[in-house]
Amino acid sequence: MEKRRILVTSALPNANGSIHLGHLMEHIQTDVWVRFQRMRGHECIYVCADDTHGTAIMLKADEQKVDPKTLIKGIKAEHEKDFTDFLISHDNYYSTHSPENAHYSSLIYNRLKDAGQIAVRSVNQLYDPEKDMFLADRFIKGSCPRCKAEDQYGDNCEVCGATYDATDLINPRSSISGAEPVLKKSEHFFFTLSNFDDFLKTWTRSGTLQDQVVNKLSEWLDTGLKDWDISRDAPYFGFEIPGEPGKYFYVWLDAPIGYMASFQNYCERNPGLNFDDFWEKDSDCEVHHFIGKDIVNFHALFWPAMLSSANFRTPTKVHTHGFVTVDGLKMSKSRGTFINARNYLDHLSPEYLRYYFAAKLNGNVDDLDINLEDFVQRVNSDVVGKVVNIASRCAGFINKQFDGQLAAEVGTPLIDDLAQRAYEIAAHYENSDYSKAVREIMAMADRANQYIDEHKPWIMMKDENQRDQVQQVCSDGLNLFRILVTYLKPILPSIAEKSEDFLADTFDWSSLATPLTNHKINAFKPLLTRLEMASVTDMIEAGKDAAQAEEDKEEETQMNAIEYDDFAKLDLRIARIVNAEAVEGADKLLKLTLDIGDAQRTVLAGIKAAYAPEDIIGKLTVMVANLAPRKMRFGISEGMVLAAGSGDKEIFLLEPHPGAEPGMQVT
Ligand code: MSP
Ligand code: ZN
Repeated sequence: MEKRRILVTSALPNANGSIHLGHLMEHIQTDVWVRFQRMRGHECIYVCADDTHGTAIMLKADEQKVDPKTLIKGIKAEHEKDFTDFLISHDNYYSTHSPENAHYSSLIYNRLKDAGQIAVRSVNQLYDPEKDMFLADRFIKGSCPRCKAEDQYGDNCEVCGATYDATDLINPRSSISGAEPVLKKSEHFFFTLSNFDDFLKTWTRSGTLQDQVVNKLSEWLDTGLKDWDISRDAPYFGFEIPGEPGKYFYVWLDAPIGYMASFQNYCERNPGLNFDDFWEKDSDCEVHHFIGKDIVNFHALFWPAMLSSANFRTPTKVHTHGFVTVDGLKMSKSRGTFINARNYLDHLSPEYLRYYFAAKLNGNVDDLDINLEDFVQRVNSDVVGKVVNIASRCAGFINKQFDGQLAAEVGTPLIDDLAQRAYEIAAHYENSDYSKAVREIMAMADRANQYIDEHKPWIMMKDENQRDQVQQVCSDGLNLFRILVTYLKPILPSIAEKSEDFLADTFDWSSLATPLTNHKINAFKPLLTRLEMASVTDMIEAGKDAAQAEEDKEEETQMNAIEYDDFAKLDLRIARIVNAEAVEGADKLLKLTLDIGDAQRTVLAGIKAAYAPEDIIGKLTVMVANLAPRKMRFGISEGMVLAAGSGDKEIFLLEPHPGAEPGMQVT
């Protein structure tokens, strides 16, 4: 078999949140494929990175009052740990905020520009005059122009489903500052995707994509592609466009280039590897991307067009998967089913999930449901009940009765039968149809268990004359087990490793046909314990608690915070206290007469404990001048004075200050 050279990627997780079941499904799908290729003796390099640029990350850093670089550094460490603990075998996990990525982003942009594929156009866009930045649709909220529902995003209404332009919203507001956005012109840079219609019609139909994806993309391709806006104005966390101060690459331009950058970084540390071998125009190495269906246009339209125009090779294949649902519903924080990697690991072993995903992944684009009961049942009946069970049934006899020695020859044609299926199982892995591979492996496991059941070594053991038979059947059982675990090794790497230790062997596709005979094995240690529903329930409950805690925190900050709109309603004025007198019958009140420049106001203020009336005449205070007049027991109060202090005796007003005049607006 010819040795293939393969570069594989999973989509780069956003650096503004935790790794969750959706990411895990994707990385498990990729990792199984990668481990399979490596097991077959191919060179297979698996790279990934955090996707670090864009407005969302910039704002999140703002909110946490940290530098974006600090934010993404912490998140990257968390992501890496999560993936390692799920046994994901990335060769390099990098960051898009890297010198290599800056280099390749500029290089590709310059090549596109030289090829005449960058257009500059003036764009009218909504702008936040408070925050001084342009607003993407998802940062604008207002009332739906169709059904008038309030608080809808700038591109579509969640209530009536209408889609519209942000400029059509009624009473639009920036969700960052609360200010009313204004239209502002700015120059944007476009990649002229419209020139690539023909190229993409051919490329998408050349075996690079699943049929379901080709059909979806045809809809777009048939209506003609629009040019793609690849620039964003400062402030933006990303790479500045070469020669265009204040203009940045849109995050989706440099994100896929991050695949190249991560690989380049890996090459730097592995001098035998050469970047160009994999990326030059006519490379005979392979490049495979694994992605979710939501980002197919970026990978199957924009990306190949960019690569081909910049004189690089295009991907060999883009493998697209659907979305994870839990018990038939979208993952949800409040239901506790928005399960993040760490919460899962706190309760369960990673291989349960690896097995369940593999058993359901069939290489198509449909959504994949995790039914929690089915999850528990399936892992227990298949992995524990069928596979691990063979080893635990046979190991004891071989170790205790035969000093760990396997029989001198093979006692059943079943062993060869199972080994003969290698080609077929390999084809299922290659085609990403792991579910078919798993189904067939489990059918083989049933046959292996039947073989042991038929011969009942535990009964034969009672008859001294049948000792050799016991050794034979149990050795056969362990050889069958070895084949099954070899087939499952891409999915269950840790169980495979423990089984290799146990059988003192290395499991490989090429050694499948050579059974272990006359071979000494080691003591058997438990490979995997049963999955308990109680642990799953605990995990879901912990997820709910975390979601609740998050919500409480948000609510608290929301309650303490007022919207800018509310603040803007206050008319705060400097007022001079021109008269102050005690109010008859009231212990705490002084009746103040305030001069606010163009008018006088009477205010009843509860500051009698701190000030004698004569002490405060002539002092300045800040008053809320537009508070609706309020009828109190002792008269009407036409505003409110602001003062600092603990209340009681310590209340501080402003000292008269040169330049501070009654009526001045406080801002
Ligand atoms: N940063 C971009 C990808 C850039 S690739 C050059 C991005 N990040 S993401 O964190 O939102 O998603 C990363 C991957 O996880 C995507 O392939 C996405 O489809 C996948 N998933 C995110 N949520 C998912 C589910 N609920 N289910 C399955 N996969 C989903 O997109
Ligand atoms: Zn609506």
